[in-house]
Amino acid sequence: MDNRQNRLKLAVQKSGRLTDHSLDILARCGLKISRGKDQLIAYGENLPLDLLFVRDDDIPDLVQEDVCDLGLVGLNVLEERRLEMLARGAEAKFQILRALDFGYCRLSLAVPEGVEWKGPQTLQGKRIATTYPAVLGRYLAEHSIDAEIVTLSGAVEIAPRLGRADFICDLVSSGSTLAANHLREVETILQSQVVLIRTPVKLSAFKEEWIERLLLRIDGVEQVKESKYIMLHAPRSALPRIRELLPGSEFPTIIPLEGSPDKVAVHAVCRENVFWETLESLKAAGASSLLVLPVEKMLS
Ligand code: PRP
Ligand code: ZN
Repeated sequence: MDNRQNRLKLAVQKSGRLTDHSLDILARCGLKISRGKDQLIAYGENLPLDLLFVRDDDIPDLVQEDVCDLGLVGLNVLEERRLEMLARGAEAKFQILRALDFGYCRLSLAVPEGVEWKGPQTLQGKRIATTYPAVLGRYLAEHSIDAEIVTLSGAVEIAPRLGRADFICDLVSSGSTLAANHLREVETILQSQVVLIRTPVKLSAFKEEWIERLLLRIDGVEQVKESKYIMLHAPRSALPRIRELLPGSEFPTIIPLEGSPDKVAVHAVCRENVFWETLESLKAAGASSLLVLPVEKMLS
């Protein structure tokens, strides 16, 4: 059953911004892996799913060429690859299955401190360093700007200081790289987050079924992140108001309280975070003995 042919192969970033979060979400989906440091492949011990650790820039091709069945990668990398292929008359073949709630960043234009920015036309006739020539090229074309794109493979932020470019177009997440290099972010040209992609090839029934199961688990993991389980006591007369106040809950469970006919216990899953303000309003509406618990797993 467990032969290598029948195991899903998922590409993740080897080391970088996305690595820890990618491994974390997979662990929360129940995956246990054995991984020695610097190993290219980690085998799933309890699921038919193995991980391939690669450069994020290689993930779109590994998946669309069916070397890997799945990949976790930023939209920034995907969009660059898609536009690059489009420019050569080819269509990208990877399929996006889910957008995940991590790896948020943006591709932005930045100018050296002290340089004035008067909108896109500031770029006319200038040199812009980037590792995203296709996305930048589309932006320049959309704004009818003629500028020179200086394509680098990394360390874009030092290009202006080295005299290789006037401006840069790079990924910004916290903004600390820009600040450390005396650059000012002036315009965002692409918003990004991590997505799960799959091969265009139809897989064996076994693998397809496991992809479905993985998706259900990912949805569950994403759902519970904000979800809380809330318990409280309330007079029956306060129930309508209390139900209004419970954030994102569908059908609370109402349980009679032994020896106190006017009061009930209310248990509910709230699909949004429960803030102190909400608890205060619930209390004001008559609730008492309030308890909020984190939800670990959820499967609807
Ligand atoms: C990006 C970008 C900057 C840094 C910005 O690199 O090239 O170096 O992150 O982050 P900050 O705003 O939090 O300082 P990335 O992690 O994508 O690495 P890669 O380009 O080598 O894949
Ligand atoms: Zn990269």
